[in-house]
Amino acid sequence: MSIPVLTIDGPSGAGKGTVSRLIAKKLGWHYLDSGSIYRSLALALQKAAVDITAVDDIVSIAKAMVLEFECNDELIVKLNGEDITPQLGLESTGSIASQIAALPEVRQVLLKKQQDFKQLPGLVADGRDMGTVVFPDAEYKVFLTASAEKRAARRYKQLKEKEIDANLMQITIEIEARDRRDSERQAAPLAMANDALYIDSSDLTIESVIQEVINLIH
Ligand code: DC
Repeated sequence: MSIPVLTIDGPSGAGKGTVSRLIAKKLGWHYLDSGSIYRSLALALQKAAVDITAVDDIVSIAKAMVLEFECNDELIVKLNGEDITPQLGLESTGSIASQIAALPEVRQVLLKKQQDFKQLPGLVADGRDMGTVVFPDAEYKVFLTASAEKRAARRYKQLKEKEIDANLMQITIEIEARDRRDSERQAAPLAMANDALYIDSSDLTIESVIQEVINLIH
């Protein structure tokens, strides 16, 4: 029996995480937040004090790390038994993740860890290369984006709500730098699959994005 897969790719801050989690919940499917795997590796490197240029050491750590995911309302991630959820969302973690994600050797090791999420009754996979590299045969593909300004403003609002000090200009600069790095790298760059549905969420609510995606599946 073939297992249905919905891939949702796009730049950081486009709303992929929220949309993917809610759709997975609605459909009763599994959820893969592939960015959290790169982020977990970034934290594993920090803990082991491994430099992001030491490719062989990074590959060894990537092979050895044991990740556990629990997806309720929020995604809980454990790295080698330790709950790393609070550190996972930091911009510094995202930035290191984006740098090591440019290494083809790292992507190769993490490929199978991601493909193992494909299980019945179905999978919603969120990332940069879900529809192009990890699940090229997925039945349903979406490319979800929004302007850098809107993405930065949303991130700013989220941080303020959590009472974390934030600077809108700084966030915009970081988002643009990460976009460039993720789109311009050689290995599996952020790109829209030819057969993906393009959604620009700049002026849409989460509910209307979800409705568009559900319409695609039905
Ligand atoms: O989606 P995110 O912000 O959690 O991802 C963090 C970084 O991980 C992102 O900047 C690039 C990398 N990444 C990737 O290269 N491929 C993916 N499928 C997901 C994330």
